[in-house]
Amino acid sequence: MNRPTRSQQWYAGTDRNAYIHRAWMRRGLPADAFDGRPHIAIANTASDLTPCNVHLDEVARAVKDGVFAAGGVPLNLPVVSLGETQVKPTAMLWRNLAAMAAEEMLRANPIDGVVLLGGCDKTIPSLLMAAASVDLPAVVVPGGPMLTGHFRGTALGCGTDVWRLSEEVRAGTLSEEAFLESESATYRSRGHCNTMGTASTMACVTEALGMTIPGVAGIPAPDSRLLERAHASGRLAVDLVHADRRPSAVLTRGSFHNAIVALAAIGGSTNAVVHLLAIAGRLGVELSLDDFDAIGADVPLLVDLQPAGRHLMDDFHRAGGLLAALREVRDLLDPAAITVTGRPLVDHLDAAEVWDREVIRARGEPLRAAAGIAVLRGNLAPDGAVVKPAAASPHLLRHTGPAVVFDSIEDLHARLDDEDLAVDENSVLVLRGCGPRGYPGMPEVGNMPLPAKLLARGVRDMVRISDARMSGTAYGTVVLHVAPEAAVGGALALVRDGDLIEIDVPGRRLNLLVPAGELARREPAPAARAAYAAPARGWERLYVQHVMQADKGADLDFLVGSSGDRVARESH
Ligand code: FES
Repeated sequence: MNRPTRSQQWYAGTDRNAYIHRAWMRRGLPADAFDGRPHIAIANTASDLTPCNVHLDEVARAVKDGVFAAGGVPLNLPVVSLGETQVKPTAMLWRNLAAMAAEEMLRANPIDGVVLLGGCDKTIPSLLMAAASVDLPAVVVPGGPMLTGHFRGTALGCGTDVWRLSEEVRAGTLSEEAFLESESATYRSRGHCNTMGTASTMACVTEALGMTIPGVAGIPAPDSRLLERAHASGRLAVDLVHADRRPSAVLTRGSFHNAIVALAAIGGSTNAVVHLLAIAGRLGVELSLDDFDAIGADVPLLVDLQPAGRHLMDDFHRAGGLLAALREVRDLLDPAAITVTGRPLVDHLDAAEVWDREVIRARGEPLRAAAGIAVLRGNLAPDGAVVKPAAASPHLLRHTGPAVVFDSIEDLHARLDDEDLAVDENSVLVLRGCGPRGYPGMPEVGNMPLPAKLLARGVRDMVRISDARMSGTAYGTVVLHVAPEAAVGGALALVRDGDLIEIDVPGRRLNLLVPAGELARREPAPAARAAYAAPARGWERLYVQHVMQADKGADLDFLVGSSGDRVARESH
C-alpha cells in the first residue's frame, strides 16, 4: 500500500492510544486487519420501524462479504433510520438530524470508506448529505422496491392507490370495508414503495448522480441480483479507498445535471428537488431551483409508471431499468460526469436495452413531450415554487380562481368537508403554515384532499398551492414549496378567501391578483406563522432556528459546505 489509510491514524504504532484502538476492535479480527487495509463502514438504516428498510441487514451481509473478498475490513454502523409512514410529525423534520448524526459518526470513527444502505424516502438523501460533508469514499446500495401487490385483480401502487382509494371512499364510490380489505395487499414484499415515489426516485437519481454501481437502482428488494450488486458494491468500496475517489470527485455540477435529466425522464418526485439542492449545498456545487427548470423542463417523460402513468417498479426493472431509459436521452446527459466506477455514466449506457416499450417509451413516442419540474415565480412565490406538469391536469395548467385559504393542516381537516364551505372546482385551495419552519418540518400535505361535495360531483383535480411538500406517490395540479413560506413572512400569509390567484405553468407565473398597495396594508395571518408554539428545546428548537427555505434544500444553514474527514484531537 502506497498511501497510509485514514484508519491508520487510529491503529498504527505501538503507543498506548493505538493499543487501545486495536485492542477493543480485535473481537475476532486478526492482527493483520490493522495493517493498513481499508476499513469500510456499512452505514445501515435497517430498522423494524422502517418497514421499507427492514431487509437491509441481509444486504449488509452481502456487502460485508464483498469488502472481505476485496481485502478490506467491513464494519456495521447502524445509523438513524426514518420510516416515512411511521415517524411524526413528518419524516422531513428528521432528515437533517439523520444526516448530521451520520456525518458525525462517519467522521468520528476509524474508517476509510463507507457503503450507504438506504431505501425509504429520507434515508438515501440523509446518507448522501452526510457522505458529501465528510467526503470519504462512498457508494450507495439502494434497498430496492417491493414486488407488486394486487387487490381484486388490480395491481396496487403503494402510496398512489392509497390516495386514490381513500378519495373513492370519500366520494362514496368504494365501501369502507373494501378499502380496509385492500390494506393487507398493499405491502406485498420487502422493499420500499413500488411507484415512482420518492424512494424509487431517489434511488434512480442517486444512480444518475454516479453514486451507485450502474444498473442497481430499481432492482426489486427480494431479487437475488440485489445481493449480487451489494457484494460488488462492497468490493468497489475497497477499490474506492485505494483510488482515493471521493464523493467530491463524483458529485460535480455535471452529475447533478444528469440527475435532473433522469428525474424528468422517469417522472420522479418533486421531493428530489429539495434533496438534490441540499446535497449540492453540502459540496458547494452551484445548483439552483432554476436549474431544474432549465435542464429538465423539456426532457420527455419516458417511463410509464405511477403516479404519472400506469406501471410499477418491478415492471420498470423488467423493462430495462434506469440505464435503458437514460440511453434514450443520452445526448442530454453530461458525457464527462463520472460514477463511482471511475467511468462516465454515459459509458454504462451502451449495454442497456429496452425490453418493454409499454413501460419505457422511445424518445420519439414519449408519455409527455416535456416532463420536467416547472419552477413558478411571481408575487406569491418570489423565491420560487414547483409544480410537476406531468402529474397535473392539462386544463388547469393555466387557471385563475378565487382562493380558499387554510391556516394549517388541522384547519384544513376541520373545514374541508363543511357543506357551507364556499368552494367550487374553479377555486384555488391554499394551505399555509406547512413550510420548513412553520410546521415545522415541511410535511407532505401539499396534495390536499378535495372537498367531499366536489368529489361527489365528479371533480378529481383542483389547483392547490402550499408551502408544503407532497408525497412522491401523489398526483394532481399541486403547486408546492412556495418560498418564502408563510411563517417567515411570505406573501402566502397575506392571501384571503376570495382573492384571485393566477397560475400559468407555461408562462411560469404564480401571482396573487391583489394590488401591491392593498397587500402592503395587510397584516400577515397570525395562524400562518406556525400551527404550534415555537419549541422550547431539543432538535426542533435547533431546526426552527436554522432551517433554510425550500429553494435552498431545507438544510440547516450551518451544515452548508463540506467539512471533510479530519478529526484533530484524541481523548485517551
Ligand atoms: Fe417507505 Fe414509501 S413508505 S418508501
